[in-house]
Amino acid sequence: MLDEKITQISNDFDSELQSVQSLQQLEELRIKYIGRNGLVSSLFDDLKDTSKEEKPALGKALNSLRNKVITDFSSLKLKLESSSTSKESKIDLTLPGNQEQIGSRHILTQTLDEIKTIFKGMGFSIQEGPELESDYYNFEALNFAPDHPARDMQDTFFINKDFVLRTHTSPVQIRLMEKHKPPVRAIMPGRVYRNEAVSARSYCMFHQVEGLYVDTDVTFAELKGTLVSFAKQFYGDNLKYRFRTSFFPFTEPSAEMDITCFLCHGKGCKVCKQTGWLEILGCGMVDPNVFKYVGYDPEKFIGYAFGMGIERTAMLKYGITDIRVFFENDLRFLKQF
Ligand code: DAH
Repeated sequence: MLDEKITQISNDFDSELQSVQSLQQLEELRIKYIGRNGLVSSLFDDLKDTSKEEKPALGKALNSLRNKVITDFSSLKLKLESSSTSKESKIDLTLPGNQEQIGSRHILTQTLDEIKTIFKGMGFSIQEGPELESDYYNFEALNFAPDHPARDMQDTFFINKDFVLRTHTSPVQIRLMEKHKPPVRAIMPGRVYRNEAVSARSYCMFHQVEGLYVDTDVTFAELKGTLVSFAKQFYGDNLKYRFRTSFFPFTEPSAEMDITCFLCHGKGCKVCKQTGWLEILGCGMVDPNVFKYVGYDPEKFIGYAFGMGIERTAMLKYGITDIRVFFENDLRFLKQF
């Protein structure tokens, strides 16, 4: 009796296995045959009722049936899992994909890149210098005498008696001229530091771009032409501007360039202190004393220099009224550019 049942179930299993096409069907088959109450398992219950003589042979047959079922089951399972045509392939094409977060360049980087492109187009190269400067490069060689009150123009972070966090990018002019004989024509972007109370108008750290052109026949008219050309390319052709006389220890004569206030368009408002104008940069003809520090002959060479704040430049272009937003990394601000 039991041996017939064993043969029958074995045959049934073989033929049912043939028609299995999915992992789900295979699982159903597994439960049907070797699950806790499955057909093979119930044969073991029947074994209890057989005679002592028959038991060993039947037990052996039953064990080999169970092993065969388990082996066949496992090998078909492997096959189905690895087959890509299986309807239950592990890849679920309906799942939403992983969203790639794409970063973007900071508005200051974009502004600086634009400034660089414009000046490169006018024949300027790009140079850099250290943020930790000696008093010599930051002040002395730029014609600030040791006790000159002009040092008060820039609130300085002193590291010790001789070293400061540079208060402007002008010291890079000195480093450049020490290394190269004229003609030199370069812009020098970088970070600068000022010991100022943080407010909407000033921050303890910001960025500047310095410019320098030295040759044998450089004129103030060329300086104006270069800066006007820059400002029109950067702010647009309709730009209104003016030059005002000013003072810097390292230039003589010195000037500042203003453009019409972005907010009131010249009518006068709080941002431009009712003048209708906003300053965008300082500039001038390099003071002959500066040439003496770098070993250029002031009788032979002449040059112009200028310096502008990058935050300020971006604020004027995009109508930003608080400098602190550049450093807060608030994505709601950054994503607007
Ligand atoms: N260094 C000046 C500042 O930080 C800006 C400046 C003015 C730079 C005139 C120049 C210049 O090269 O010629 O305010």
